[in-house]
Amino acid sequence: MEFDLTTKDRKLDHIKITVDKNVESEASTLLEGIFVTHNSLPEVDMNEVDVSTNFLGKRIDAPIIITGMTGGHPDTAKINEYLALEAEKHGIALGVGSQRAAIEHKDLEWTFRVARKYAPNVPLVANIGASQLIKGYGIKEVLDAIQMIEADGIAIHLNPLQEVFQLEGDTEFNGILSKIIEIVDESPVPVVIKETGTGLSPEVVYVLYRLGVRYFDVSGLGGTNWAKVEVLRAKARGNRKFAARLDGYGDFWGNPTAYSVIMARMSAPDSTIISSGGIRTGMDIVYSIVIGGDLGGFALPALRVLVKEGREGLNRFVESIIYQVKVGILLTGSRNIEELRCRKFTIKSNELRLILTNEGYDPYRYNRVKCHNKLKVPLGWM
Ligand code: FNR
Repeated sequence: MEFDLTTKDRKLDHIKITVDKNVESEASTLLEGIFVTHNSLPEVDMNEVDVSTNFLGKRIDAPIIITGMTGGHPDTAKINEYLALEAEKHGIALGVGSQRAAIEHKDLEWTFRVARKYAPNVPLVANIGASQLIKGYGIKEVLDAIQMIEADGIAIHLNPLQEVFQLEGDTEFNGILSKIIEIVDESPVPVVIKETGTGLSPEVVYVLYRLGVRYFDVSGLGGTNWAKVEVLRAKARGNRKFAARLDGYGDFWGNPTAYSVIMARMSAPDSTIISSGGIRTGMDIVYSIVIGGDLGGFALPALRVLVKEGREGLNRFVESIIYQVKVGILLTGSRNIEELRCRKFTIKSNELRLILTNEGYDPYRYNRVKCHNKLKVPLGWM
């Protein structure tokens, strides 16, 4: 195999487990609960469908980001290199995994730097954990992370679920908000608030929006599930007692991606919203944009196909996703992302309707305003 994943290391454990085991949540993104009208008379030339859009001050060729996963161990550098080559080839955005290891051990910086080396032109998103901010990281470490890959934005990832499920997790979360705000105020590039598979909630988005954040990666329930990953890891390490305490918990806890995207748009109307967590097809991205997202993001499928089928496999996968996005735009009678965003949609699943209604969601108002995301006033779910 091209990737040597045999070393004992938490990062490599995570990659091995997520590639080989069933780590996706049983619960769905609820994107299947969306209905979008099919148009039999599109009056659009497929060759002229334009899927380019803006992200972090750059033009990208498709509304896609491969979200942050790895770096920080020599054996992960090839993964970042190949993801970067793929992102550059298709003109899509890319995130790197948590840069903590390289901030603390300079000799590991190269495992992240490869991302910028092989993707010189696309938006790159640096990454640190909110837990690190609580444990003393400040603007200095954030600048290190940004400069390391000449990043266009920096994701602060929120992962309380993973921390409580992780053997060595950091579980003191108090004080987190003021630390995030400090970084938002001082960072030279935009801060992206990013979940990791459990979904941003409207309250969290709204509070951060009011404090100046304009980029959100919802990373909702329905895809990679960190409770499952950590339980499998605890079992593999022989810690059955720890695993048993948590087993079965992770499958259903969290905010499904479709819900998170709609509520994020309502709470932070003129922001950039990445729909991620369980995004597996171009159609998922089409639905994500119709309901109010700007970009679709995925992590696990890119990693899996790369490790199992190499660069050709990854290329096939990304190409088919981009093609599917184009098809979806055409079949709604749209020509570009802006027109797609303004297509109306209906919530057809009771589950999604119920949880949205509970938050004061009004389909008529939402459909009217979601495409004009210059609207400056949150849609009042609170
Ligand atoms: C991740 N993810 C992640 N996120 C983050 O902000 N920092 C990180 O270091 C990592 N590390 C990481 C490793 C691996 C192996 C995977 C699969 C994922 C989370 C990722 O960016 C994404 O939010 C979730 O995985 C949900 O998307 P998918 O996987 O369902 O498409």
